[in-house]
Amino acid sequence: MREKTLSVAVLVCLLWPVLARAQSFAPAGWADDLKLNSIADRNPDPKIVEIDLVAKLADVQIDGKTVHAWTYNGGIPGPLIKTNVGDRLIVHFKNELDQPTTVHWHGVRVPIEMDGVPEISQPEVKKGEEFVYDFVVRDAGLYWYHPHVMSAAQVGFGLYGALLVEDPADGVGVEDQLTMVLSDIGFDSKGVLEPADSGGSAGMVFGREGDYVLANGRRHPVLKARPGAPQRWRIVNAAKSRFFYLDLDGQPFTIIGVDGGLQEKPVTTDILLITPGERVDVIVAPKGKAAAPLALRAMLYNRGYGSVEYRAVEEVLTIEFTKEAPVAARPVTVTRAMPMPSIEGATPVDITLALPPMKNNKSEFQVNGLPFWKAKPYLAKLGEKQLWIVKNDSDWDHPFHLHGFFFQVVDEKGKPVGPLAWKDTVNIPMKTTARLLVTFDERPGEWMFHCHILDHADGGLMGTVLVGGGEPKGHTHKP
Ligand code: C2O
Ligand code: CU
Ligand code: CU
Repeated sequence: MREKTLSVAVLVCLLWPVLARAQSFAPAGWADDLKLNSIADRNPDPKIVEIDLVAKLADVQIDGKTVHAWTYNGGIPGPLIKTNVGDRLIVHFKNELDQPTTVHWHGVRVPIEMDGVPEISQPEVKKGEEFVYDFVVRDAGLYWYHPHVMSAAQVGFGLYGALLVEDPADGVGVEDQLTMVLSDIGFDSKGVLEPADSGGSAGMVFGREGDYVLANGRRHPVLKARPGAPQRWRIVNAAKSRFFYLDLDGQPFTIIGVDGGLQEKPVTTDILLITPGERVDVIVAPKGKAAAPLALRAMLYNRGYGSVEYRAVEEVLTIEFTKEAPVAARPVTVTRAMPMPSIEGATPVDITLALPPMKNNKSEFQVNGLPFWKAKPYLAKLGEKQLWIVKNDSDWDHPFHLHGFFFQVVDEKGKPVGPLAWKDTVNIPMKTTARLLVTFDERPGEWMFHCHILDHADGGLMGTVLVGGGEPKGHTHKP
């Protein structure tokens, strides 16, 4: 009897991928231009992904030029790390750069020792040193990894990559899938990177953007599609400052998920805003004719002075269509059961973000009147629910990010804003207030929050929350 149950189980397991497989419509090689570097899993255990990651200088080809970039494993972006939900990820990290670095796992609910923040969660990884990151990935979704030392510089120079945590039973049923890492980079005609301090204090206040917009490290790549066929794009904005405000010539994007995986229900939009650090999971079904390629464009978005003035719309990628008959549209019905937020019993925490007038020719962002290097940590108990009321008093948008925990965005009355979803990064437009409901779970530690315009973080817009007591660490580190 036992054996019989077992063999049925085995049979179901064997058949499952076949049963669950949705139909592919994409032509062969449809996404070759957007292929991300892969990485070898050197552990035979199917529940463990064990990889080698090296930060090093390397020459990469961008737009026909050789750029002397900073890379993970020699490419921009770094390799796509893929796991299934519940897997253990072991990363043997080595720093071959000339300066210290760390790896932060953005959005992943890691233990504090694995959070990659120097002096707070681990020592800096100095030149030639190694560090082993080892944790279980608890939540399906698209996450990403990047340094947390001089992050505006190091991310801007090319250090970022995607971590895709898949749930094989997510029921999305779209076979043609793509992970898209959007970013930008600045370099001169000789391929020398634009200095991280260009433009001085004004550059910091604006948030420096690179001139070259990249999708999976390429400028203007081409994607091939059968007209009307559904594609699932999981997108991360890994740029250090640039907002991506995406338009597909007015054709709809159906959002099925955000930072922390699938959301309550799909929402359709004609224009898709992804601010630095955020992720979206969308289904598109681009329509068009073989003779008329369709452009995915980054439109102008006003995140503060200089972001729309004298700026041009950028082409991110082009979709070329096959001559096949269009695929008939199918409704997207992906849902996820999620807890309704309740602000009852939540401890309110007021946080004001500001940019006071320049002093001694220098600008400094402040959180409740203090830049990061003068601030003390905020406090939370294990299991405590808090309502962060984050007021943006400045004339700049701030994509606000919390390490280690997801939150839900609610309105003044505590009702959810938009469909229920887990977020770890949310844009707070200039002169507005956002309310973030967060429960600090069983993982103690000192966790960062900061603006993900990394120049703003460097410029003071950062803080920590000390969860579960203990001694706060010194706040000298540069983000
Ligand atoms: Cu992408 Cu401190 O984070
Ligand atoms: Cu993070
Ligand atoms: Cu900011």
